[in-house]
Amino acid sequence: MLGSGGREHALAWKLAQSPTLTRLFAAPGNPGIAQCAELVTLDATNHEACIRFCEENTVELVVIGPEAPLVDGLGNSLRAANIAVFGPDKAAAQLEGSKGFTKDLCARANIPTGGYIRTTSLDEATGALSKFDAPYVLKADGLAAGKGVVIAATLEEAEAALADMFGGQFGEAGAEVVIEEFLDGEEASFFALTDGETIIPFGTAQDHKRVGEGDVGPNTGGMGAYSPAPVLTPELQARAMQEILRPTVDTMRAEGMPYSGVLYLGLMLTKDGPQLIEYNCRFGDPECQVLMMRLQGDLAAIMLACAKGELASAAADFAEETALTVVMAAEGYPASAKKGGAINLGDAEAEGAKVFHAGTAIKDGQLVANGGRVLNVTATGANVTAAQEAAYVAVDAISFESGFCRRDIGWREVAREKGA
Ligand code: AMP
Ligand code: GLY
Repeated sequence: MLGSGGREHALAWKLAQSPTLTRLFAAPGNPGIAQCAELVTLDATNHEACIRFCEENTVELVVIGPEAPLVDGLGNSLRAANIAVFGPDKAAAQLEGSKGFTKDLCARANIPTGGYIRTTSLDEATGALSKFDAPYVLKADGLAAGKGVVIAATLEEAEAALADMFGGQFGEAGAEVVIEEFLDGEEASFFALTDGETIIPFGTAQDHKRVGEGDVGPNTGGMGAYSPAPVLTPELQARAMQEILRPTVDTMRAEGMPYSGVLYLGLMLTKDGPQLIEYNCRFGDPECQVLMMRLQGDLAAIMLACAKGELASAAADFAEETALTVVMAAEGYPASAKKGGAINLGDAEAEGAKVFHAGTAIKDGQLVANGGRVLNVTATGANVTAAQEAAYVAVDAISFESGFCRRDIGWREVAREKGA
């Protein structure tokens, strides 16, 4: 397994429980992943080295956690060497790697999404703004570590943001900018596995992207999440499957870019139904952590079936209970996170909670913060209220003086549960 965050700790933790698993390597991993896998040093950008490692260790399946190696084509290189991979090829990973690619695909396949214009110069983009109303949604085309989207309240703000984007704020990723219609509604995430033909739903979640309580302040990678997301009713899931996922998977296959792996749909639940905000070609972080807490059965077997094009014979079951995760971040995140703060996990896991490691390291025998998002404190309960309570009991058992977390993860659903 490749990766080093909380998402990868959750995947490694679940893979390690798989009856079909014989040995699990992780590169580069983290101190949490080290508890369930053998850590190895491997550079994911060095495809030759990855292939050699797999051949020398008769690796049967490579699980690629983050998007960058997928967009970079590591999947192609491994498959060309006859090594099974969980994750799409380079062409299929464009669903995350290029916002413009995805919008064009939606247009060709008649998939519900906001209207858009692709632009490649500041002049063109500024001119195109007149075709939209405020708020303006501006997106750097390429990978920008989740930071490439600007929602500008006024025309002046939009023009300034476009100047920054074409001025190199996001490097190559901003050489093209997609301007998009603003969609109004509640956001939710829907996950599915596909081998290019068969699609199986793989859970729902909602996350909290803003750093501050009540969803204010700068965007982050995600400050907490819960699964399932009751707003994504079975009816809305069926619509997302039929109106968005099925045409995507069929069109990608028909156009010679079959998609294999997990598809993460960022949906806006509008009054006209679910609309696609974005695709990701990997699991969400921290959404993966709550999915893995609920997943029943053998993850290694499901992923291998997906990689081999045999998903039709696999099944994925999720426990009905709710899982909720609270991200503990290092002081200063997301602007600049303070490294090195000491962490003591105490007996946070005593009551069945699970602490996934994200940005941690061990220095002189002490667990310390080593990134922006540091820990994902995850618990389950009969509903969001109960899971939230259990997660914060675990958070309070942890000593991490230079860390912070939001205390309101799950608030929308807790309010709805109270009103029910
Ligand atoms: P993305 O990186 O595409 O997920 O965008 C980041 C965030 O911007 C999303 O989670 C939404 O909150 C918001 N967003 C993106 N596109 C739209 C849109 N067309 N309308 C409203 N909000 C959007
Ligand atoms: N939590 C949002 C993401 O993984 O993209």
